[in-house]
Amino acid sequence: MSEKFSEYFNQNKDRFLDELIEVLSIPSVSNGEANKSDVVRCAEWLKAHMEKIGLQNTEIYKTKGHPIVYGDYMNAGKDKPVILIYGHYDVQPPEPLDRWVNPPFSPIVKDGKIYGRGTADDKGQIFIHLKAIESFLKTDGTLPINVKIIFEGEEEIGSENLGEFISSHKELLKAEYVVISDTEMYEKGKPAICYGLRGLCYMQIDVTGPNRDLHSGTYGGAVENPINALAKIISQLKSDEGKILIDGFYDDVTDLTEEERKELNKLATDENQFKKDLDVKSLTGEKGYTLVERLTARPTLDCNGIWGGFQGKGTKTVIPSEAGVKISMRLVPQQNPEKIAELFKKYIEKISPDTIKVKVSYLHGGKPSVTSINSPAIKAAMSALKKGFETEPVFIKDGGSIPIVSTFKDELGADAILMGFGLPDDNIHSPNEKFELENFYKGIISVCYYYNELSNLEKFN
Ligand code: BES
Ligand code: MN
Ligand code: MN
Repeated sequence: MSEKFSEYFNQNKDRFLDELIEVLSIPSVSNGEANKSDVVRCAEWLKAHMEKIGLQNTEIYKTKGHPIVYGDYMNAGKDKPVILIYGHYDVQPPEPLDRWVNPPFSPIVKDGKIYGRGTADDKGQIFIHLKAIESFLKTDGTLPINVKIIFEGEEEIGSENLGEFISSHKELLKAEYVVISDTEMYEKGKPAICYGLRGLCYMQIDVTGPNRDLHSGTYGGAVENPINALAKIISQLKSDEGKILIDGFYDDVTDLTEEERKELNKLATDENQFKKDLDVKSLTGEKGYTLVERLTARPTLDCNGIWGGFQGKGTKTVIPSEAGVKISMRLVPQQNPEKIAELFKKYIEKISPDTIKVKVSYLHGGKPSVTSINSPAIKAAMSALKKGFETEPVFIKDGGSIPIVSTFKDELGADAILMGFGLPDDNIHSPNEKFELENFYKGIISVCYYYNELSNLEKFN
């Protein structure tokens, strides 16, 4: 490594980490109203930081929800490609708090990892790009390519206002490729380019029984219990073979080709290790599909939360008036979230008994996405990862969702390059989220290489 950026990186990496800790300490939880001002504070922090490292035209765009942060550097030369770097600075709620060994917004570094909410998802990863950019701008005084940056504050709640922002700011955001670091590597020491993400359809069912809570002795035996009814509804969503029973659910699913199955299963997850890590005796899922296929390439349905009745300590004999559940479905190509929401609604109404009232709501959704692995920008990404991690990277599909990826393609015509540095065991959305410092540092170096490779894209044609 003779490049100037690497020398700068070596001299400044400890400060990079201190700055990351600073932004991680802002509890930018996007869900609900409680942290609204922290989310704004985080956006302002990022804008100021972007100015400090030499980015231009920085701006905070207000939305109906949380703000969008923009900045760019367009002086690399007209002949150089323009990339749009996307990421999110909002984080998932930290609860349950008592499960954190260290408080979620007072990050600590321990055993080569940094612990805290947002470390891997996604502040640590957006910081990789900011520090790569800084390493060029503070040494060469320019970047090898033109970059635009957009960081949103609503990814974890479905990117509700970003789609509209993109369609109304096409000129501002116009780019050849969208580069995103918000996915995972295959495993420690094994970097990956993700070429497929699942979509999402998020629903809520509210069940109402009697108009008030009832004594379960006085009324039990005659009046429907909403919790019992809801449990029965939920039990009819999937068969024992793991098939989702909603009429028409699989109609648009593109079946895996033999070739793709072969590719996917080359990187088969070790089932025993997987079970051991989670402390479960056996696994579940759709019959006829391997673990990797079930985790990344097949649709799913899961309850995410359930409520109703008495939840306190001890006992209370009651037939509650209400019960409810939140359900998410992961979707695969060519399933459409709105269509699935309609099918879901119809099916729930069909199977619901007339002893209860049921309300089905579509909360949010996103389309699945796939990227061709043959584009020059993908080949350049593989080359950069190989230099940064000094090992051969692999192609993976991820089971998670980044709903806005398909919007970038539809609205800007730009393919996404998903170059992520998280690990499957980083505990994202869970207590004790962490990010490996090795991935943070090698991520910065890889991204520096990537910007360089992108400035010579012809090489990869
Ligand atoms: N970074 C994740 C998506 C992800 C997770 C990609 C794991 C690859 C592997 C992202 O922040 C996320 O959590 N997305 C949500 C989507 C959403 C609409 C709430 C998800 O997947 O649940
Ligand atoms: Mn994320
Ligand atoms: Mn997330």
